[in-house]
Amino acid sequence: MAVSEFAAKYGPWALITGASEGTGSAFAHRLVDAGLKVILVARREGPLAALADEIRARGGECVTASVDLSAPDAAERIAAAAGDREVGLLITNAGADANGSMFLDKDLAAWEQLVTMNVNTTMRLAHRFGRAMRERGRGGMILVSSGACYGGLSGISAYCASKAFVLAFAEGLWAELRHHNIDVLTLVLGRTDTPAHRKILEESGQPVPTDMATSEEVAEVGLRQLPHGPIWNWGQTNDVAGMAPNSPDDRRAKILAIEAMSAAYAGKKA
Ligand SMILES: NC(=O)c1ccc[n+]([C@@H]2O[C@H](COP(=O)([O-])OP(=O)(O)OC[C@H]3O[C@@H](n4cnc5c(N)ncnc54)[C@H](OP(=O)(O)O)[C@@H]3O)[C@@H](O)[C@H]2O)c1
Repeated sequence: MAVSEFAAKYGPWALITGASEGTGSAFAHRLVDAGLKVILVARREGPLAALADEIRARGGECVTASVDLSAPDAAERIAAAAGDREVGLLITNAGADANGSMFLDKDLAAWEQLVTMNVNTTMRLAHRFGRAMRERGRGGMILVSSGACYGGLSGISAYCASKAFVLAFAEGLWAELRHHNIDVLTLVLGRTDTPAHRKILEESGQPVPTDMATSEEVAEVGLRQLPHGPIWNWGQTNDVAGMAPNSPDDRRAKILAIEAMSAAYAGKKA
């Protein structure tokens, strides 16, 4: 899609959650290159301000909002920060599981926060900004997900469940909103070299894989695939089942194989 066509369809403002680093920051830079203005959401003000300075130094326009997506009022606070700016593209990017824990080994509050971020806040943002897109008759949404959306896995059960919501939600929204000239894509990522992911690897004593996608690759592919929803599975063509086996036997085998693979990474017994 040509730059002017992209901005006419998805501009003038894009709102990105988890924008301050990694894939979120890469999306922001690409969107500024494509002529959009960006609303940058994350918790820490310092990295947000640094990114805003970089964008303004390149002639881009942006605003920042320091909001915790796992708080019950996150979507309302983000909507207030966006004000009356026309958001033509919503990217719900933040959503990793920083807990690194078996379900029962963390207090419930940690899992409730993860689910609030990935389910409630995602749904509320899609509703708030989707309605305005429908009125304008154009727009787009990228809901960033993970291969974990295709079934439960040891050590990340609540994360998998929250990303399964994102998968089904994006598919349904794609079906509804395509009739209003709004593109919806869930971008199902594999291992990606982000600061947050490196922190998880470091904390769990795992080596850094050499074959991770870069944040820049993810942003480029995500924006390119946006008109071709509802799903893009990282590194796979659309005509293979890949990470989405369906029979109970296949699903059980996948869970156990990934558990064994993770244990091998961490040098532990599965
Ligand atoms: N990296 C991977 O290997 C991988 C693999 C599969 C899927 N994904 C998906 O890709 C997306 C990005 O992942 P990531 O590795 O970059 O980690 P992430 O923690 O989802 O994203 C980091 C960004 O989100 C912000 N953030 C994190 N928690 C937040 C919260 N509660 N409220 C507001 N902002 C928050 C961070 O800034 P602050 O800390 O300042 O808030 C930072 O800007 C996620 O949806 C993840 O599930 C990643």
